[in-house]
Amino acid sequence: MKLSLTTSLALHGALAAAFRVYDNTAYTNTSVGFGSSNINWIPNYVCIPLLAGGTLPSAEAWKTVVKQWVVYPGYPLVLDCEQLYLNDAATADQDLEWLATLQTWAADVIPAGSVIGWYGLVANTNTALYGHLRTLVANHTPTAFFPSAYTFSYSLSTWKTALTTSLAKAHAVNSSIPVIPYTWPQYHGNYSFFPVDLWSAELAYLASQNSTLAGFVIWGGKNHAVCNDACQATAGQQPWLAATRTYLASLYGQYSGTPEVAGGQLFTGL
Ligand SMILES: *[C@@H]1O[C@H](CO)[C@@H](O)[C@H](O)[C@H]1NC(C)=O
Ligand SMILES: *[C@@H]1O[C@H](CO)[C@@H](O)[C@H](O)[C@H]1NC(C)=O
Ligand SMILES: *[C@@H]1O[C@H](CO)[C@@H](O)[C@H](O)[C@H]1NC(C)=O
Ligand SMILES: *[C@@H]1O[C@H](CO)[C@@H](O)[C@H](O)[C@H]1NC(C)=O
Repeated sequence: MKLSLTTSLALHGALAAAFRVYDNTAYTNTSVGFGSSNINWIPNYVCIPLLAGGTLPSAEAWKTVVKQWVVYPGYPLVLDCEQLYLNDAATADQDLEWLATLQTWAADVIPAGSVIGWYGLVANTNTALYGHLRTLVANHTPTAFFPSAYTFSYSLSTWKTALTTSLAKAHAVNSSIPVIPYTWPQYHGNYSFFPVDLWSAELAYLASQNSTLAGFVIWGGKNHAVCNDACQATAGQQPWLAATRTYLASLYGQYSGTPEVAGGQLFTGL
């Protein structure tokens, strides 16, 4: 039986520490499954043309986009508008106003109590502008930080260092906001799938961080520019998928019967 959204919200406090793995992949004919949770996102390539005129889109235009992309109502919505990163004091006030307006308009057309957060924003906010980000956080509850934890080289330690830096920034802005990093089984630089031993090591490390992370997102394939037809058609045959499923099977005890962390498919709040 499916829990109603109201029931879900009532459970919010009790499950505050649950660790979830979100499937934000869109590889052809391939979803992660195995207890991963749904999530919604609006990509940067959708945001860019909407802001291209140097003004906000109309509320109606933005709400139409939100309704189109929120395919799993009640699950978190991640917004990605990278030109609004709070990294320039000269434009920060306007950026904040636009970020707040876009998230308020989004909240108007999705179920009450939905998580709304911004991809990449916390790690790309200048220290001097943390106050701006705190104002944005106060504008919508519940929220979460969704920093990138993408992979640039075959080095677990480099990847960990970058993640640790993002986490420290998130905590400096507001340590009570859940952090849910974005992972991706392809190299950020050339989009090839990186060796599965590195991917498995990243997954294991993320699970070990369940006291500071509320989970993580697996991204991939949403943007044709980073996974073309040939990549799409074979993405599900790459070893990352089996490794991810093996990991999920024991993470939640779905198949072993002994969960390693609390969490699971049914998203009930952060
Ligand atoms: C992709 O980039 C990674 C990291 O720089 C590198 O190790 C790998 O050889 C590259 N692969 C291809 C196919 O260029
Ligand atoms: C941090 O976030 C919580 C939850 O939204 C909020 O109650 C609190 O006021 C925030 N703290 C700061 C310093 O903004
Ligand atoms: C995806 O699945 C559909 C329906 O089974 C099939 O027709 C199509 O060829 C598949 N595409 C790829 C790239 O495997
Ligand atoms: C976090 O993971 C450890 C094992 O690594 C486990 O003992 C603990 O229960 C987990 N905590 C939550 C909240 O899932």
